Amino acid sequence: MKLTAADFRKALGAFATGVTVITVDQDQEVHGMTANAFTSVSLDPMLVLVCVDHRARTHAHLQARKRFGVNVLSSRQRAIAEYYAKSSEVHQHAEAAGARFDRTALGTPVLHGALAYLECRLHTEQEAGDHTIFIAEVEEVVVGEGDPLLYFRGKYRTIGEAE
Ligand SMILES: Cc1cc2nc3c(=O)[nH]c(=O)nc-3n(C[C@H](O)[C@H](O)[C@H](O)COP(=O)(O)O)c2cc1C
Repeated sequence: MKLTAADFRKALGAFATGVTVITVDQDQEVHGMTANAFTSVSLDPMLVLVCVDHRARTHAHLQARKRFGVNVLSSRQRAIAEYYAKSSEVHQHAEAAGARFDRTALGTPVLHGALAYLECRLHTEQEAGDHTIFIAEVEEVVVGEGDPLLYFRGKYRTIGEAE
């Protein structure tokens, strides 16, 4: 039997992840996209990657700006994850979803209340099917407190007690 997209999604959905919002400055506002295809790549140099669908608006913004932020969401930021999972040209309702941004010394937007923020400069782009793998060098981090928002089998979750 041929492997279907539904089977593929189901298998990948069994891999529990954290949830990030990728932020990129665009026309004087912060554009955001919920992403869990994010991982660390290298320690020296310090590299991470995020896989972005060609159809996402964020894709063109990352190629144009070549700088972006990765905000690791806390369990209190589920509404923000839901908000930035909807494609939108402008994000005028971000505040209603609970998103407020501080700025780093370099002037880039950091999601207030996130567990961690990584300031990224584009290093390499690799085409991979219908997505592009954006590999980026991490130039700054801000680390916060709290528990993570998780994503597992198509649903948001929170972490249980440590064993
Ligand atoms: C939990 C979750 C994780 C997601 N991860 C990714 C991802 O890693 N890469 C991606 O391209 N889209 C991902 N998406 C879908 C994007 O968030 C969605 O397509 C978004 O609307 C794109 O916004 P934009 O077109 O404004 O850039 C994810 C959605 C959810 C709910």
